[in-house]
Amino acid sequence: METLSPALLTMKGIDKSFHGTHALNAVDFDLRSGEVHVLLGENGAGKSTLVKILAGIYQPDLGEVLLRGESVHIGSPAEAQKHGIQMIHQELNLVEDLSVAENLFIGWKLLSRGGLIRWRELRKKAGELLDSIEADIDPRAVVGTLSIAHRQMVEIARSLVHEPDILILDEPTATLTPTEAGRLFALMERLRSHGVGLVFISHRLEEIFRIGDRVTVLRDGEWIGTKEIGNTSSAELVQMMVGRQVDQVFPKRESAPGETVLKVESLSMGRNSEPVSFALRKGEILGIGGLVGSGRSRLMRAILGLDGVQGHFDSVRSALRNKVTYAPEDRKRDGLILNFEIAKNVSLSSLSEAFSGGIHRRVNETRMAEDAIEKLNIVCPGPNGIVDELSGGNQQKVILGRLLAARPDVLLLDEPTRGIDVGAKFEIYRIMSALADKGAGIIFVSSELPELLGMSDRILVMHRGQLAGALSREEANDERVMQYATGA
Ligand SMILES: Nc1ncnc2c1ncn2[C@@H]1O[C@H](COP(=O)(O)OP(=O)(O)OP(=O)(O)O)[C@@H](O)[C@H]1O
Ligand SMILES: [Mg+2]
Repeated sequence: METLSPALLTMKGIDKSFHGTHALNAVDFDLRSGEVHVLLGENGAGKSTLVKILAGIYQPDLGEVLLRGESVHIGSPAEAQKHGIQMIHQELNLVEDLSVAENLFIGWKLLSRGGLIRWRELRKKAGELLDSIEADIDPRAVVGTLSIAHRQMVEIARSLVHEPDILILDEPTATLTPTEAGRLFALMERLRSHGVGLVFISHRLEEIFRIGDRVTVLRDGEWIGTKEIGNTSSAELVQMMVGRQVDQVFPKRESAPGETVLKVESLSMGRNSEPVSFALRKGEILGIGGLVGSGRSRLMRAILGLDGVQGHFDSVRSALRNKVTYAPEDRKRDGLILNFEIAKNVSLSSLSEAFSGGIHRRVNETRMAEDAIEKLNIVCPGPNGIVDELSGGNQQKVILGRLLAARPDVLLLDEPTRGIDVGAKFEIYRIMSALADKGAGIIFVSSELPELLGMSDRILVMHRGQLAGALSREEANDERVMQYATGA
């Protein structure tokens, strides 16, 4: 006879408000041992808030959390850990100045015995852990020197140190290459087969169908429905998420690139790379493809004269003076001033307007922010909302808003749709197209092949720090891009 065991986790009637924002409204959620339960919803729907409650980071205003049928209070991340709950955060949470091994075992007794750090054992354990997730990372490397993808793998490894019963993954794949994402899925399957319950957040529907068992959709903080993955479709899920039908097609453009707006000549990206030359024309969207770590971001940064290379410009400021704007990959590190209002962040690249005649024009600042909020559908309390309090995807949109406010001739966008929900993604594609139609030149880095192929007039593919090939829109397809990207 089958015995009915209680769910591993039940969350009942969870309610949470942040001064004015009703982030969660009586949400129910449950998780079984050995399943992957996906949380899906638009930017700002409440996904991160719900899992942060489970991870002890936020306290719910109302509602109850039960573990194996027992009501529990999860007052802090440390308590969550005691209950066997671990979370991999949407925003990376590593100490950049410490080594990988130290980051993995921070606060762990292995670190010291009688005050002495047992380095050899620490490194050995770290190596084993990294091997177990097939991450090719040196435990001695300083985290700050690693690529974002590698940091993400460290973050994943760290969550496994405590052998959790419940593992929460908040958009873990956004920064990974397809290969790394494949490894992560294999790992998730292994954990699932050992009875771990996994909560998985992703905006990529194909991943959800690949790895998920059930999916719960949130919209504006409300529970919309829970489905078995086998009994639903991406059309249904999108409909549940946005409450309307969205057409998922790349905007059609008549591309007729004009004169050259940016000419990159013999740009050096470091000692071991051949210098790079190419031109960007008015109205052109130039995609940069390649695997994570292939030098795509470095190319963008080199154009701006960052990282100490002799660039096309000598600084972001001089680029800006030439109406060239840049949205970096890591919004937390070099994109946003998190404790400032949206208005200040949006106007940051348009200070001449915000401070015209030496006077701080708050009106202009507010107008620019309102414009961005409307155009990009930023979920927020208004221009004075603090960026730190926005959901991850909405923070990303603030950076794009800043770029638009500067009315640039050239946009350099590094992974512009990372962490952006499906509906908003197509909004951003439409905005990119509209800007190009008006004569702006756009260079964008993307790890998503459909986006790269759907949006680019021309694609440059990087491989191991070198420009491996260029493809016109007509020539480009999945295989060709991957051939160049892998050096095959
Ligand atoms: N600490 C906070 N202070 C104020 N408001 C917050 C805070 N954290 C979240 N919110 C608000 O709660 C709502 C839900 O945010 P949440 O981060 O849960 O969204 P999400 O579904 O994870 O979105 P995304 O896909 O963009 O990551 C948003 O409107 C957000 O601005
Ligand atoms: Mg989130």
